[in-house]
Amino acid sequence: MKRTVTKAIFPVAGMGTRFLPATKSVPKEIMTLVDRPLIQYAIDEARAAGIKEFIFVTSRGKSALEDYFDDAPVLEQELRRKKKTELLEVLRKTTMESGQIAYIRQHRAKGLGHAVACARRMIHDEPFAVILPDDVIAADKPCLAQMVEAYAETGGSMVAAMEVAPDRASSYGILDVENNEGQALKVRGMVEKPESGTAPSNLAVIGRYILSPRVMKHLTGLGAGAGGEIQLTDAIAREVDGDGVYGFRFEGQRYDCGSKAGFLQATVAFGLARPDLRDELSEFLSALSLSSK
Ligand code: UTP
Repeated sequence: MKRTVTKAIFPVAGMGTRFLPATKSVPKEIMTLVDRPLIQYAIDEARAAGIKEFIFVTSRGKSALEDYFDDAPVLEQELRRKKKTELLEVLRKTTMESGQIAYIRQHRAKGLGHAVACARRMIHDEPFAVILPDDVIAADKPCLAQMVEAYAETGGSMVAAMEVAPDRASSYGILDVENNEGQALKVRGMVEKPESGTAPSNLAVIGRYILSPRVMKHLTGLGAGAGGEIQLTDAIAREVDGDGVYGFRFEGQRYDCGSKAGFLQATVAFGLARPDLRDELSEFLSALSLSSK
């Protein structure tokens, strides 16, 4: 089995109800972290990991996403006329070559596993990445690039893992690992959203995966799991006794931009990391914390 990963699936068909009313007309993935939509962070991370083909699983009301990756000739012309070369460069980085990007519809939001399975005809006998744009990860080396490197050694399937507080475990897929030491951890079981007090560890799966094509086969015909949804975790768990599953303890800070608190934290952290915004923002935050005391 080859161990280079060139295809990535971006499941973006969810309804984003936690951000209503904003998501009534704006896809969650287009929401802006500082000055870039969430989806741009995901694409940049995929590119840095060597991904060449980008497969989006979308749904009704997500056309703004497709437009985002198109050429914008009128805007470009205007920026050229005004000699705004820096902005022109920023804009160019958002367009994708024709043929590099594909859109598939998930007609009903039946769960993450179902969304990934919708892309099955685009994945042949090769490993593929899955990226959830809600999970934004600040890291010196982008998270998926770290995983691609580790995966070249392990093979099998790999999921990004991070430690969570015990009372948060029931919101995640949780790993049962053979030995909770090191960076690539051999998994012996996985459970999606375990009931309180039953989690096998404090290691939660977050939105970066490198999966064996066998996972696609397991997804076909898989019934609903936790929350009545078709769960990607359940299909990956079947590989524990197959080609093997590894949890990868990545280096970096993950922000859950699918939740309001996570999005706000990411906005502050990414704002403070920007040289052009840092001073003004930190001054504002200090004044705010003084005035709230
Ligand atoms: P979430 O669990 O965050 O669901 O999905 P959601 O619909 O996006 O948001 P809320 O909970 O209603 O606020 C995690 C990821 O899986 C995708 C979502 O688009 C998101 O990237 N997803 C989820 C699908 O593509 N299809 C589904 O049926 C469910």
